Amino acid sequence: MTARPQTPAPPPQPKPDACFDADWLALRRAADSAARSPALEARAADWLRRRRAAAGADAPLRLVDLGSGSGANPCHLAPRLPGPQHWTLIDHDAGLLDRARVACTGLRDAEGGAVRTETRHLDLGAVDARTLADADLVCASALLDLVDATWLDRLAEACSASGSALLITLSVDGTWRFLPDSASAEASAPCAPDADDDFVRAAFNAHQRRDKGLGAALGPDAAPALAAQLRSRGLQVELAPSPWRLALAAPAQAELARALIDGWRDAACAQQAQARARIAAWHGRRSADCRHGRGTLELGHIDLFAAP
Ligand SMILES: C[S@@+](CC[C@H](N)C(=O)[O-])C[C@H]1O[C@@H](n2cnc3c(N)ncnc32)[C@H](O)[C@@H]1O
Repeated sequence: MTARPQTPAPPPQPKPDACFDADWLALRRAADSAARSPALEARAADWLRRRRAAAGADAPLRLVDLGSGSGANPCHLAPRLPGPQHWTLIDHDAGLLDRARVACTGLRDAEGGAVRTETRHLDLGAVDARTLADADLVCASALLDLVDATWLDRLAEACSASGSALLITLSVDGTWRFLPDSASAEASAPCAPDADDDFVRAAFNAHQRRDKGLGAALGPDAAPALAAQLRSRGLQVELAPSPWRLALAAPAQAELARALIDGWRDAACAQQAQARARIAAWHGRRSADCRHGRGTLELGHIDLFAAP
């Protein structure tokens, strides 16, 4: 009997809710880098040094980045971690992976060695114990809120089976607030408390729980849920806050804040269509704070490091 030729798997078809604009990812990069927990990065570096000592100095350390987008995570982490490093970047967006390849060209590890990267155009729904079998460190940034509890369970199981560590950064915790700062408090129109912040935040957080292709998204509950899954398998887990603090008087940070506010308005309107006028009025007030450089927008994230 002749074997039938294998049909290659069709390329992933991302849901619109799980597609991210390259300009948005570029806009958030500086705030992300400033927010990440250096203490947990140091833990990851120590872990990799120990793995390297156990395996022999020449064997490359295997790092996997889930939901890589345009490569912000390896670009930030590679120079902070020991080498030699071999990264596998996984995403369902081929265009973003093209950008990631360019962004990672010429990357160096903490010891100055060249960093190797490969990309995999893959849906994260297909990530399993085999995908992560060789990994020393599994990473992701700004991803976790998109996934459901079953996917986290599979991730925790796969990492526990392979004995790899995890560094999962910049997972939203569902909080944000506008703070008057000393300069703006003295200004004629300081950034004022707004009763509708709570309303818009609740609508946005509810919208975040919609299915983005990986089941009912956990949104802000994802990082604590992953921590619990990993602890139940005996891994040591550390969490650290990694909030964005956007000074609205700084033009680049105000631009990021404006993009956030626009996104919150759109999601809140999709979630609470009957409250469009109320949400539009809130958007107008908070946009004015950005325009006039009034106060600071603080948005909560959680970083997680876990090791066997
Ligand atoms: C918010 S972006 C973060 C990108 C990058 N990690 C960063 O920090 O800039 C989320 C990324 O996850 C990818 N993604 C979302 N759902 C996915 C899925 N089901 N399979 C593969 N990639 C997915 C998106 O294409 C996007 O690149």
